[in-house]
Amino acid sequence: MNTSFSGKVALITGAAMGIGRTTAQLFAEAGAAVALADCNEHVVHSAAKELTQQGFRAIGIVCDVSQEHEVAHMVTACVRTFGRLDCAYNNAGIHVPVVETADALGEDFDRAIAVNLRGIWNCMKYELQQMRTQEEGGCIVNCSSQSGLVGTANLGAYTASKHGVLGLTKSAALEYAARGIRINAICPGTSDTPMVSKAIADAPEHMAALIKEIPIGRLGASEEIASAVLWLCSPGAGFMIGQAIAPDGGYTIC
Ligand SMILES: NC(=O)c1ccc[n+]([C@@H]2O[C@H](COP(=O)([O-])OP(=O)(O)OC[C@H]3O[C@@H](n4cnc5c(N)ncnc54)[C@H](O)[C@@H]3O)[C@@H](O)[C@H]2O)c1
Repeated sequence: MNTSFSGKVALITGAAMGIGRTTAQLFAEAGAAVALADCNEHVVHSAAKELTQQGFRAIGIVCDVSQEHEVAHMVTACVRTFGRLDCAYNNAGIHVPVVETADALGEDFDRAIAVNLRGIWNCMKYELQQMRTQEEGGCIVNCSSQSGLVGTANLGAYTASKHGVLGLTKSAALEYAARGIRINAICPGTSDTPMVSKAIADAPEHMAALIKEIPIGRLGASEEIASAVLWLCSPGAGFMIGQAIAPDGGYTIC
């Protein structure tokens, strides 16, 4: 049994389903107490219950990461329950309609930035307020995307939000590098999750073209993203600061 996170506390946003849910599972299996946060109240509570029924320590917290006061409450609830915060995976994110820039809606742009970029800033702010009080510091992983590293036609707002995540990550990483808090980003490639199933249903031609370009020839599995998140939070990644690692089947090396 992997107990490498035994005694640690992990907080994961967007943890009700997809990559976030799998990451919560892997942290729990590795010995961490886990706080699962999501705006989907019903599903986040049942995900936390599934973990407690498996014998793990877990709580569900309802939180829309775009709302700063809800994020402050999320961190408080985690620390009140488990006493500290060692690892945070800021995973919550949304897709936007696939549309060329001239036809895109301002409200979709604003929502992508509010959740995918301001949401990460909100989370880091309150996680760091807690971690800087802890002698052992902590680790934060922010969720970007392959679209944080390269352009994605017809997905401008999403791509901009995910590029922005890397700027926030590098800047905060510099601020806290010498204070025992490591901050990195992960840039997943197209992976088999509810988000991608919906994107395939909504924009089949766009997604078929995207998937055809993945050098490895298949979608990623959420476990292949989650395991990289755990590694970034592990002592083995102790010299990694402000990096953007891309489990993406080779998409961004073309
Ligand atoms: N799946 C992919 O191919 C892929 C590729 C690159 C990046 N990503 C990124 O990985 C992350 C997870 O993606 P996924 O595919 O698992 O998505 P998903 O849609 O399957 O799950 C996302 C979870 O986040 C929650 N969520 C959405 N908005 C939220 C908010 N405002 N506050 C709190 N929770 C919220 C949803 O309720 C859901 O439980 C996202 O940031 C996404 O952009 C995914």
